[in-house]
Amino acid sequence: MMKISYLRISITDKCNLKCYYCRPDNSPFIYRSEYLTYEEIAKLVRVMVKFGLEKVRITGGEPLVRPNLDELIKLISEIPQIKDISITTNGLTLSKYAEALKKAGLNRVNISLDSLIPERFYQITKGNLNDVLEGIKVSKEIGLEPIKVNIVAIKGVNDDEILDFIEFAKEYGVEIRFIEMMPIGGEQINWSLDKVRYLDNIKKKIEEVYGKLIPSFSIGSGAAKVFKIPKVNVKVGFITPLSNPFCDGCSKLRLTAEGNIKLCLRTDEEIQARDVIRKGSEKELEEFVKKVVILKEKSNQNIISSGYQFSDCRRLMVSIGG
Ligand code: 5AD
Repeated sequence: MMKISYLRISITDKCNLKCYYCRPDNSPFIYRSEYLTYEEIAKLVRVMVKFGLEKVRITGGEPLVRPNLDELIKLISEIPQIKDISITTNGLTLSKYAEALKKAGLNRVNISLDSLIPERFYQITKGNLNDVLEGIKVSKEIGLEPIKVNIVAIKGVNDDEILDFIEFAKEYGVEIRFIEMMPIGGEQINWSLDKVRYLDNIKKKIEEVYGKLIPSFSIGSGAAKVFKIPKVNVKVGFITPLSNPFCDGCSKLRLTAEGNIKLCLRTDEEIQARDVIRKGSEKELEEFVKKVVILKEKSNQNIISSGYQFSDCRRLMVSIGG
């Protein structure tokens, strides 16, 4: 059976930003009473470590808008098999919470940041760039590292900032990740192929200025191809779900805030897990996870044989968490 080493846990579908490719107008919210509790999430994690789980990432929506995230981090960090706990955040309120999260056992943070130009950042997200920068600085100071900054590359929107991001990474002491924009949420986000900035020639563009990139590695970098830029001592990663899919051997699972296990970003296949987590015995939950792993293997095969299609991705990214 496939080893499930990585689980992404969405704890809310609420967000204090409004990036148009993630949370378009009128997107539905889950009622709060339907969210799994932190104790329920930890119960699932305790069972999943028997299937190889070692790495957990907490996402949203924006995970920092759900109160007392440090309590969940603490519950998970008490599970000895878990080696790495991270969050993906927009960083807006990170400067306020970073210290408590670190104390609870958080290892590191990924921060979404699509532009370094305040007006443009506002246009994309409806947020304030300075708050994010402050969050990055504080995280750096207290050692929530390595810090990875995620940039969704959008043609004609922010793909003129590639070199600026490298200088930024050098200055702030962070890693950067460029991501191709996926059709998650389909029609709701007005996605079209001509907005996608394929990343293949971005690497070339960087090399023209900084010299040859050296293949490298970073903790937790399953999906990213990571390189080091020796001249500035910066690590840059490329996540290319469209131009170069990385599905083979993927064992990543996602848990939604209301307790569905999502098998893959490319399909809407989900398995309702809330009832068995809530009411089931440990044994029952273990049997359930076993079935999920088998379904994940099947789903992978289908995706590979379909040529890595994105089909029926109706669930919006804001309720998946990346
Ligand atoms: N395609 C690619 N990445 C996306 N993200 C959100 N929506 C998309 C999309 N449609 C990214 C966010 C964040 C992470 C959680 O996923 O920018 O960094």
